[in-house]
Amino acid sequence: TETRYMMAFESSADETSVAIVKNGVEIISLETATQIKSHQRFGGIVPEVASRHHIEQVTILADAALSDAQLSYEDLTAIGVTQGPGLVGALLIGVTAAKTIAWAHNLPLVPVLHMAGHISAANFVAPIQYPALALMVSGGHTELVLMPKEYEYIIIGDTRDDAAGESYDKVGRTMGLQYPAGKTLDEMAHRGIPSYNLPRALMNDDAYDFSFSGLKSAVINLMHNADQRGEIINHDNLATSFQAAVVEVLVTKTARALDNYPVKSFIVAGGVAANRGLRDALTEMLAKRPQINFLPVPIKLAGDNAAMIGAAVDIAYRHGKRGDWALNANPALEF
Ligand code: KG4
Ligand code: ZN
Repeated sequence: TETRYMMAFESSADETSVAIVKNGVEIISLETATQIKSHQRFGGIVPEVASRHHIEQVTILADAALSDAQLSYEDLTAIGVTQGPGLVGALLIGVTAAKTIAWAHNLPLVPVLHMAGHISAANFVAPIQYPALALMVSGGHTELVLMPKEYEYIIIGDTRDDAAGESYDKVGRTMGLQYPAGKTLDEMAHRGIPSYNLPRALMNDDAYDFSFSGLKSAVINLMHNADQRGEIINHDNLATSFQAAVVEVLVTKTARALDNYPVKSFIVAGGVAANRGLRDALTEMLAKRPQINFLPVPIKLAGDNAAMIGAAVDIAYRHGKRGDWALNANPALEF
C-alpha cells in the first residue's frame, strides 16, 4: 500500500498551525504559532488582530513543516484545511494558503470541519474502531457525536447555550483570570475543596443536550453577592465546585449515551479534553464499561493544532472529499 502524506492548515481562531501527517496516524511535523498574548489584554480573541497574525505566520510555518519533515511538495498526497467553523477572516488565511499551494503544486485540495479534526486526533492514540462516540468539548462546541462508520457524523447531543470551554472562560474572567481560563481554573480546582452548591442543568432530561449558562450565571452571581456583602470567596474552592458541576453533567450524559448506543470506541476531544477532572472522571466511568476502547486525545493535541486537521484530511481524502478552486471559508460550517 502507498504512503500518504497530508499537509494540513488550521487557522480558525488564535493558533496558526501547519502539519504533515503520514497515513492519518503519524505526525511527521507540526508547527504552531499561538497569538494568545496579543489577545489577552482584550480578554478574548480580536478577529482583525487574529487575521493579521495568521497572514504573517502561515507561509513561514508551511516552509518549516516541510523542511522539518525533510519532504518536498512532490512527496505530498494532498493539501487539507479547516474550512470552518471559526472566525471568517482567520479561516480565510488558511483556506487561501491551502488553495494556493495545492494549485501551484497540482495537488488535491481537501476541506474539513474543525470538529472532525479534533475528533480525528484520537487516531494518534490508536485507530478509532466504529461505531464510535465522541464527546467534543471546546471553547465553541459541546457535542456528543455518534459515528456509525468512519466519516459519518451524527450529533446526538449539543449545548443549548454556552459551550463548556466558554463557561470556563467566562467564570475565569469574573475571577480576574487571563483568557483562556480553562487550564488555570482546572489547576485551581485541584487545590480547592467543593464547598459551594451549584446547579447541574438538564440532568433528568433523557436527551443528551447540555446547558451551561445557568451554572456560569450562578457562579458569577455568587461572586457579585459576596462582593456586595464584603464576604471573601475562596476562588480555589469555587473553582472546585464549578468543575465538579461541569464534569458531573458531561460524564452523566456521556454514560447515558454509551448505555444506549453500543459503540466500540469512545473519544474525548477538543480543548476541554485537556481537563484533568474530566479525564479522571471519564476514566473511572469507562472502567465500568471495559468493552469500550477509550481514546482520550493526548493533552498536547487537545487544543487547536494542524496535526488533528491532517488526521481528518486523511479520512476525508480516502472518502473522496475534494475542494475546488472556488472553495471558500465557512464560519458557520457544521457536521
Ligand atoms: O479546542 P480549543 O483549543 O478551541 C476551540 O475550538 O474552541 O478549545 C479552547 C477551550 C477554551 O475555552 C479553554 O479555556 C478550554 O478549551 N480549555 C480548558 C482546559 N484547557 C483548555 N478547559 C478546561 N480545562 C482545561 N484544562
Ligand atoms: Zn478547536
